[in-house]
Amino acid sequence: MNTIDVRIRFGEGGDVEAIVLLINANFPNDPPIDQETIASWIADGGHLIVAAAPHGVVGFVRMDSVRLGLFHLVVVHELRNQGLGRLLVANVEDRARQLGWPHVLLGVDNATPGLVGYYECLGYNLRGDVQPIVAADGSEDPVRSLIMMEKILLLPCA
Ligand SMILES: CC(C)(COP(=O)(O)OP(=O)(O)OC[C@H]1O[C@@H](n2cnc3c(N)ncnc32)[C@H](O)[C@@H]1OP(=O)(O)O)[C@@H](O)C(=O)NCCC(=O)NCCS
Repeated sequence: MNTIDVRIRFGEGGDVEAIVLLINANFPNDPPIDQETIASWIADGGHLIVAAAPHGVVGFVRMDSVRLGLFHLVVVHELRNQGLGRLLVANVEDRARQLGWPHVLLGVDNATPGLVGYYECLGYNLRGDVQPIVAADGSEDPVRSLIMMEKILLLPCA
């Protein structure tokens, strides 16, 4: 990471196009996401966290303040395995602690079960349940589901 000039910051209006491209390229099994959706995430209280290099967005993650979780973690191919994903997750956890979240939740697509090991390395544990992937029309995916994991955040004692 030392050689990469990357800044972690909140998403901004100018990031929308890059984020749409990254999501649609990296989550090919999900319905395509549109610019309006990303713009609404950015407008929704600064819960979109971006890794920004001088030439543009190289990674991001979304905090979901309803489910108290992180979703859509992505790092561009060229900068993978250099700690950027870990940095984005740590940033979410720092913010979650500031917001008083008791835990951070996430779901690993059962099509990519290897990611369970990735998140275990970052301190996440399997919750022991799976959740359905629900399409916009309300139908549940018959094959894919989310393997639920969480990290309990240590809150200061009163
Ligand atoms: C998952 C992802 C964000 C990791 O980003 P990253 O910046 O490369 O991650 P880090 O550099 O922090 O960690 C890299 C380590 O995780 C491991 N890792 C990365 N992806 C993995 C996977 N799918 N399965 C198992 N291990 C994985 C690497 O082997 C590496 O291990 P090492 O440190 O022992 O060499 C990135 O691979 C990505 O964008 N994937 C596509 C989108 C995706 O699947 N997101 C997760 C949604 S739940």
